[in-house]
Amino acid sequence: MIPARLKLSKRKLFILDQRLLPDKIEYIKAESAADVAKATKDMALRGAPLIGCAAAYGFALEIDRLCPISSSSLIKTAEKTAKILNAARPTATALFYATARMLETARKFAEQNKGSFRSETAKALRKIIFEEADKITAEDISSCEAMGKYGAYLLPKNCIIMTHCNAGALATMGIGTAVGVITAAHKQGKIKHAYSCETRPYLQGARLTIWELMREKVPSELITDNMAAHIMKTEGVNAIVVGADRIASNGDTANKIGTYALAIAAKYHNIPFYIAAPAPTFDMKAESGNDIIIEERSSAEVINIKGIRIAPKNVKTRHPAFDVTPAKLITAIITDKGVISPVNKKNIIRILGK
Ligand code: MRU
Repeated sequence: MIPARLKLSKRKLFILDQRLLPDKIEYIKAESAADVAKATKDMALRGAPLIGCAAAYGFALEIDRLCPISSSSLIKTAEKTAKILNAARPTATALFYATARMLETARKFAEQNKGSFRSETAKALRKIIFEEADKITAEDISSCEAMGKYGAYLLPKNCIIMTHCNAGALATMGIGTAVGVITAAHKQGKIKHAYSCETRPYLQGARLTIWELMREKVPSELITDNMAAHIMKTEGVNAIVVGADRIASNGDTANKIGTYALAIAAKYHNIPFYIAAPAPTFDMKAESGNDIIIEERSSAEVINIKGIRIAPKNVKTRHPAFDVTPAKLITAIITDKGVISPVNKKNIIRILGK
């Protein structure tokens, strides 16, 4: 079992600090939207769907903490809260999806309870707002199950599979997206071997994914990113599955840096390249990958590994945290609503009904 990523207790959110994994299981206490935003920015919690669920709880905590006394102050507080949370990371759509839903819940409540709030009204607000966060979380859990089912069905018997970054249980509140597909297929006896790419610079593959695969007893090995093409050529890899942070309406997909290179290598070796992502990952306003904002993170994360500097002092770096894989390199997108293939706008609309 993978430890709980988020625990809500006594009006506090306890966030599993993923920076310490796999060595330590420790939780950060969050009591406000700013605390949740900080944990997200600092990578204590990460992975698109989990960022969304945490933001929903962060929103609820903030409304509960500030306890607005009228419909107008509720709207002001809710809008400010959404801004604080949305500023945490720019690429994952799940964050904006969750805060938009929470904001909508607050707006509806304000509309139905105009004027000053009595103590029963404040109590009802608290209930409704936490219930919406629970609903977003429950939907994430069931989406993961559905993707696991659809994805496992797609994979061949004796599958030799490769994944990148961490799109596992640690990135969601459920079994994960891409790693959920692998573990679901493993339960059906379909996985011969899984490879996890280490995923420089933040090492989500080395610290998190391989740890999850080992805990789930999936036969697996960790490789460094630069081994991927060689392993594809020499080890009979017959599927690659990764997650996504944002998918444009034409199917271009933003995911952890290095995904694009894997997709190119997969094409050359004729290996099916799958994305596993729930419906909130799709940004139908983005016409193509060119409309997706790519987060640039710090030099420190490139230069240092666990606090040890590996490059010259004062070196200049680049750190795009994501890249965009064009739809034409993607064999299929496994969603919670079904499988999109070939990947194009028409099929996205058909499967998602967006
Ligand atoms: O920077 P991270 O660790 O939040 O990036 C995570 C990824 O890129 C995942 O592949 C993506 O969020 C999908 S998670 C189910």
